[in-house]
Amino acid sequence: MGKVIGIISIKGGVGKTTTTLNLGAVIAHEFGKKVLVADANYSAPNLGLHLGIVDPKTTMHHVLLKSADIKDAIYEHDDNLHVLPGSLINKRVSPHILKEKLKDIKDDYDIILLDSSPTLNDEILSTMIASDKLLVVTTPDYPTLSTTLRAVKLAKQKKTPIAGLIMNKVKKKKFELTLDDIEETADVPVLAVLPDDVKMLEALSETKHIAEHSPKREIAYEYRHLGSCLLGEDYKDPRFRKKMRSLFKRDFPKHEVNRLQARDNLKANWG
Ligand SMILES: Nc1ncnc2c1ncn2[C@@H]1O[C@H](COP(=O)(O)OP(=O)(O)OP(=O)(O)O)[C@@H](O)[C@H]1O
Ligand SMILES: [Mg+2]
Repeated sequence: MGKVIGIISIKGGVGKTTTTLNLGAVIAHEFGKKVLVADANYSAPNLGLHLGIVDPKTTMHHVLLKSADIKDAIYEHDDNLHVLPGSLINKRVSPHILKEKLKDIKDDYDIILLDSSPTLNDEILSTMIASDKLLVVTTPDYPTLSTTLRAVKLAKQKKTPIAGLIMNKVKKKKFELTLDDIEETADVPVLAVLPDDVKMLEALSETKHIAEHSPKREIAYEYRHLGSCLLGEDYKDPRFRKKMRSLFKRDFPKHEVNRLQARDNLKANWG
């Protein structure tokens, strides 16, 4: 049965949609898994647009309002990467419906990634309820960290386990919060540190994923590592520096250690 992973934050623009798509693409293309990326941002849906789906006839909107079968709202980007795009929903939808609807297709996928809304209402609850695990996206600044704490608290209240945090748009500047600051405050391990990289915008302008557009960028490797961790699989980083580090088993950054632990937990947990 497919695992549902919700990508959440209670702040706009931190990189939920970007993470959903780029992570989904490496899991589908480089790990050969069947992946569905689904737009659970009901008030500002744009996941489909990132994959060149401009005006889809049937969407998440129709599925949640029960006017279409979920299978009819899924588009094949390629063999392994499928997308369930959204369109505006201006009616109240119970946050329990998404989970119900996903049951019909869970068996068709290895991983389903939900791109959540940042709005603290039924929208984000819908992702929390439907997910087996959550990834919380944050950026290394105080305002975002305070919203990250709220997201963590809410997930705990809803009893959806958090797999870890993703630190995105990291510029390696002195004024930024460090990984330790973030982990200690949120009490959740950081599983990926994604650089702020202008190539991401270049890739987006060409409707490409970063691992396809610039496969050797640090951020592309971080998505691969995160993907393998979520699958409970091993990933051997081909970069010389990383190979040497593995050989001598030293100087592992904290998020790499966290990933190994999370990978083993998930392997046991996913079964
Ligand atoms: N690591 C990165 N480096 C550079 N740009 C990035 C990175 N991650 C995301 N971006 C850019 O930041 C912008 C916001 O990202 P994105 O749309 O993924 O955020 P979001 O959390 O989904 O926002 P919303 O809450 O509004 O849905 C986009 O232009 C995206 O290309
Ligand atoms: Mg988004």
